[in-house]
Amino acid sequence: MNELLSKLGIEEINFGLSSGAQWHKTNGKVLESISPINNEVIGKVVSATKNDYQEIIKKAGNAFKEWRTIPAPERGEIVRQIGLALRDAKEDLGKLVTLEMGKIYQEGLGEVQEMIDICDFAVGQSRLLNGFTMQSERPNHRLYDQYHPLGVVAVITSFNFPVAVWAWNSMIAAIAGDVVIWKPSSKTPLTALATQKIIQKVLVDNKVPEGVFNLIIGSSSEFGDAMLNDKRIPLVSLTGSSRVGKYASGLVGSRLGKTIMELGGNNAVVISQHADLEMTIPSIVFGAVGTCGQRCTSTRRLIIHESIYDKVKQSLVDAYKQLEPKIGNPQNENTLIGPLIDESAVAAFVNALKKATEEGAVLVFGGEVYDKSRYGSANYVLPAIVEAKNSFEIVQEETFAPIVYLLKYKTIEEAIAINNDVPQGLSSAIFTLNMREGEQFVSGVGSDCGIANINAGTSGAEIGGAFGGEKDTGGGRESGSDSWKAYMRRQTNTINYGTELPLAQGIKFDL
Ligand code: UN1
Repeated sequence: MNELLSKLGIEEINFGLSSGAQWHKTNGKVLESISPINNEVIGKVVSATKNDYQEIIKKAGNAFKEWRTIPAPERGEIVRQIGLALRDAKEDLGKLVTLEMGKIYQEGLGEVQEMIDICDFAVGQSRLLNGFTMQSERPNHRLYDQYHPLGVVAVITSFNFPVAVWAWNSMIAAIAGDVVIWKPSSKTPLTALATQKIIQKVLVDNKVPEGVFNLIIGSSSEFGDAMLNDKRIPLVSLTGSSRVGKYASGLVGSRLGKTIMELGGNNAVVISQHADLEMTIPSIVFGAVGTCGQRCTSTRRLIIHESIYDKVKQSLVDAYKQLEPKIGNPQNENTLIGPLIDESAVAAFVNALKKATEEGAVLVFGGEVYDKSRYGSANYVLPAIVEAKNSFEIVQEETFAPIVYLLKYKTIEEAIAINNDVPQGLSSAIFTLNMREGEQFVSGVGSDCGIANINAGTSGAEIGGAFGGEKDTGGGRESGSDSWKAYMRRQTNTINYGTELPLAQGIKFDL
């Protein structure tokens, strides 16, 4: 393992502050990165302090003045090279994601691939930061809009996608002419350090100003509020729970800053009597137990047509039984389910199941927590299938663990109502071969989520689409489509190339 860390430039003790190519001394608390695989310390990071934050925000502000003047396609060229560097490091970084976060190696690789994909996307986008030209109502006037760089963007990421979400935000921000201060999760500091080291060579080779790609590692209680309250940060992009997101957007909103909030999900799959079950069951299983249920897009509720309810339940139990021998160390090729991130996540899993049964739910399968001696830490669980009602308090919540609730429906309208009857609105899907109900599900009277799919699961979105959701999910959109617009400021320009001064709306104001 040490070999992997040294290959990625990680030392036993690392400083948690970088302005790009340079690293800066920190003297905050020493943070230990603990692998959920076996609860062993992988490495240590000296956290940044409030003062360090003040230093880095100054550097970022200065760098912005320079970075915004570089033509966007040239900024895209830097991002292109970052994509190449990530390609070279794909296996190593994927391994570190597995080691530090606990997702299986295939998913670790997938995460790095997502970073590479967004780089490619951003390179193209760097030539497409286009505004509209509108028709002026006044003669000899030209009316158009254009997009300008916004400034310093704070990117606050979560442990579950420790590096990909940084890339979704930072690569788009970079081509937009913004500079980024990245605050990764304290649970996954080493993958962030490694990513910074991977891009470092590109920054040096291209003489990118210090302060364009910043990294600050430390606890939110130390400098989180300072960052959120800082008027020098026009945009905060945060991935986390709805609770944290509400707090953060309150602070940013009170100074009228912009936010991209990517918060909790409570994602459902509707399984129609017209579904092709051959493809439905594997898709649900991946959605519900992939990443051990720790994606914000994980499938948490199944809304099953009453006529096939028993059949689907049985098929799921059969499929889950096959998973049992595939639980274990996520570094092993055959493993499909690794550990939860830590023991507090295990406790949340256990408590949710307890609460569910207290509310009248029936545990159909799973729910065991494995003893430490079995896999090397007490973070491994057997994913659970639970029969419940949508109205149960616990079903309305997002538990970041592999629990899937089975719910029944009669009509498609009822299925849509159940899908929408939760506080969150991130992802949703229907499995059906019936075109009418499929289209109804994705129509304006269908799913109220930011993502709604037909015959494709709730998780595993491609970077090309805008990612995010409604209601308690926060309303932000990042990654593909036209999400880049959130990272720029829009300016409307009116140019009068005539000799008269006609006023809009035909107003007469003669002197
Ligand atoms: C997240 O869990 O925060 O759609 C992001 C997916 C992944 C991203 C999930 N592409 O499941």
